[in-house]
Amino acid sequence: MSDLRALLGIEHPIILGPFGGLSSIALTAAVSNAGGLGSFGLYGYEGDRICATGAELRAATDRPFAVNIWLPTGDEVEPNPQHTVFAQALQPFYEAVGLDVPSRPERYTPALEEQLDAIWEIEPTVLSVVFGVPSADVVREAHHRGIRIVGTATTVAEAVALAAAGVDAVVATGAEAGGHRVSFLRPAEESLVGTFALIPQVVDAVDVPVIAAGGIADRRGVAAAFALGAAGVQVGTAFLA
Ligand SMILES: Cc1cc2nc3c(=O)[nH]c(=O)nc-3n(C[C@H](O)[C@H](O)[C@H](O)COP(=O)(O)O)c2cc1C
Repeated sequence: MSDLRALLGIEHPIILGPFGGLSSIALTAAVSNAGGLGSFGLYGYEGDRICATGAELRAATDRPFAVNIWLPTGDEVEPNPQHTVFAQALQPFYEAVGLDVPSRPERYTPALEEQLDAIWEIEPTVLSVVFGVPSADVVREAHHRGIRIVGTATTVAEAVALAAAGVDAVVATGAEAGGHRVSFLRPAEESLVGTFALIPQVVDAVDVPVIAAGGIADRRGVAAAFALGAAGVQVGTAFLA
């Protein structure tokens, strides 16, 4: 447990989960100011918005905080060439409610490089990622800047892949977790391990601290996670409530 606190510079090994599109400066800062680690979800944020968010977080807390991004898995940046086909298929539904059929956008989300350039500028304590393994360049650059990298695993195999890539800690996120199922080695529906089955297996499989996530909502859940070898917990839904 103390490993994670020392690693992240926090007092309590309790992490506020990032919420893509829903994170708030106030909640992130409140958790950091209370001695945990507030995380802010930057999904879909462009470089300028990331820099502005970083400045707002710095103004709201002088404690460590994390930011979170989604690694691209497919057509998030470059819109799917099939867009026109889908739009045409849906045309009657748009017409029925009097809306124009949306045209194919230039891009859906900002490029990873644009997001990372801004993140290197705001220098969070932690960069957490979902939907994949960060490249060697990203891990090297983060470490060069003193930023910890945390990966997210839904299975033991994903945790092993993340640890092999040099992440500093792994979030073991069970099927109970709120938000997207962030599996990347196998389809999500084949990666539905429950939190309290996943934690001890991941703890046995990797040498880095393991952060348990999914269905942990009070001190009993925290105690259970620690009893199974977790070094910290990441809580989402309970904080949202
Ligand atoms: C609305 C919502 C959005 C989320 N967005 C993200 C995200 O963008 N990135 C991420 O790593 N986790 C995301 N999560 C997962 C949380 O950070 C956290 O790991 C999860 O909620 C833990 O499970 P719990 O909700 O059972 O506590 C999201 C969760 C929710 C409920």
